[in-house]
Amino acid sequence: MKEKSYSNKYLIKRFLPYYRPYKKILAADLFASALTTVSGLVLPLLLSYLTDWAQVGLLDTHRVVKVGIIFVITKIVEVAARYFMQSLGHIMGAKIERDMRKDVFNHLLTMDTEFFNEARIGSLMSRLTTDLFDITEFSHHVPEEILVGLIKLILSFIVLLTINWKLALIIYVIIPIMFVVSGNKRRDFRKATLNVKRQIGEINSGVEDTLLGISVVKSFANEEIEKDKFKTNNDKFVDIKKDRYFDMAGFFMINEAFAGFMYAILIFVGGMFVVNDYISPGDLVAFTMYLNMLIATIERLINFTDVYQAGSTGIERFVEVMDLKNNIYDHDSAEELEDVRGEIEFKNVYFKYPETTENEPYVLEDINFSVDVGENIALVGPSGAGKTTISKLIPRFYDIESGSITLDGKDIRDLTLESLRDNIGIVQQDVYLFGGTVKENIRYGKDDATDQEIERAAELAGATEFIKDLPYGYDTHIGERGVKLSGGQKQRISIARVFLKNPPILILDEATSALDNKSEAIVQKSLELLSKGRTTITIAHRLSTIKNADEILVLTYDGIVERGSHKDLLDKKGIYYNLYNSNNEELFG
Ligand SMILES: Nc1ncnc2c1ncn2[C@@H]1O[C@H](COP(=O)(O)OP(=O)(O)OP(=O)(O)O)[C@@H](O)[C@H]1O
Ligand SMILES: [Mg+2]
Repeated sequence: MKEKSYSNKYLIKRFLPYYRPYKKILAADLFASALTTVSGLVLPLLLSYLTDWAQVGLLDTHRVVKVGIIFVITKIVEVAARYFMQSLGHIMGAKIERDMRKDVFNHLLTMDTEFFNEARIGSLMSRLTTDLFDITEFSHHVPEEILVGLIKLILSFIVLLTINWKLALIIYVIIPIMFVVSGNKRRDFRKATLNVKRQIGEINSGVEDTLLGISVVKSFANEEIEKDKFKTNNDKFVDIKKDRYFDMAGFFMINEAFAGFMYAILIFVGGMFVVNDYISPGDLVAFTMYLNMLIATIERLINFTDVYQAGSTGIERFVEVMDLKNNIYDHDSAEELEDVRGEIEFKNVYFKYPETTENEPYVLEDINFSVDVGENIALVGPSGAGKTTISKLIPRFYDIESGSITLDGKDIRDLTLESLRDNIGIVQQDVYLFGGTVKENIRYGKDDATDQEIERAAELAGATEFIKDLPYGYDTHIGERGVKLSGGQKQRISIARVFLKNPPILILDEATSALDNKSEAIVQKSLELLSKGRTTITIAHRLSTIKNADEILVLTYDGIVERGSHKDLLDKKGIYYNLYNSNNEELFG
């Protein structure tokens, strides 16, 4: 995915709508944070009264109790508000994160198949999970911190000014300097933290690479090389972490130093003010406490830039995915495909893959052929000639550049994608089985299938026998956390799926080429049964599987060069004849 840069304003604009369902909670959360702030301001005030009353001998039990009660009440309010913020505020954040994750996931499912390649899956996974982790914190802390920070900065400024404006001005000259210096150091610290994360990523991918390729490592006895590679990365980790700790220590030192400096001013200047009667001791106490609060606020605001940064990065990565457009979608006037018969026609089809450049030649150039209802045609030809490509064009995994592909006389681009793909069954070389039971995997072909239907499909696919032998039959878990199946067994499950789906059109792309001879023979039988009565396009590299096709198309880099039945083509003594006699199966792709 291309890294794009978005303006902050745009990111906020994309993010704000996610607050909409939680407006009330957000308002309550902000109110609660305002309450905690204000009640936090009460204590210094009360203490300064107590000190001053004590000084002039006005302090009595009655006053102490009154002040105490006021404090207890404000504290109760503060504690309750804090509880609300910590719980419901965060929950609101989590819900927003959930909503965004849902939107990314749904959006991803609309993308073209072409979009998902292996390299991308990893990065997409992290977009769905880790990249959004910071949204919870972001969505509830950002409004809170901004509000609290502002209230505190403004109120304490006013309060400090009213207590003693001279002292306040001296302090307020220092604060902006602290913001700048400490903020700078914070940025270094953040960068160093990012570097550490990156280095951990390097270590991870190095380890993954080694472990995934472990059989290669072992067969070349290259353990020492791998150890060295790992050591380099692992040592670099310490260097990078060292930088980070220096930055971290520097950051905290600067904050401490500024705070210490301001307190020193209070002691020297404030002390002299008391000596000279410019300020009452109670006011100096209050002043100190407000200053304490002010410093804490500033540190929080500086730290908060981190939450902000992490969250806005998350939003940015979110927007990147959400702004991806897929090329293949239903046109406004797309109609449902109904009562399909299954007649396919390619007319003057030109095609090249979307990622290729202008100058590259077409993968398919002026391809013409038609398949009648229920007919079985075979595509043969050398590797890279475009056989798989042709099969991908029919379910519209890609759109052609010019010409037309029609189904029952209707251009497939005028049909809804869902109804088009509902009518096409595909069996490929790679079978993907989902985690779950055998039954669930077969049911993927038709989600409301009954157990009988599933068993019938398995029978037609020739899968009953081995399924019966599994520990729990149809309820056996397969895939990563379950029983491992052989290639032929997996293939039969995938064929059972297609039996259930029962589509009028069938595409078989080298469905048996990964199998050994024995499994191939079994699977081949299931496939023959499956293709009965369906319009079928078979791509195969073994001649035995295509001999019986109604028509064989020989596709080379020059397009379709020969067509006809097995017998016709042999009689012709052309390319097919040569391939057949050379008995070089490789030549058939
Ligand atoms: N996703 C893709 N993006 C770009 N080019 C592609 C893509 N898939 C295939 N191609 C190219 O298109 C051409 C035809 O590929 P295709 O997979 O259709 O060949 P094939 O006839 O099925 O070959 P094989 O017998 O090896 O499976 C090849 O040159 C290939 O490099
Ligand atoms: Mg292929």
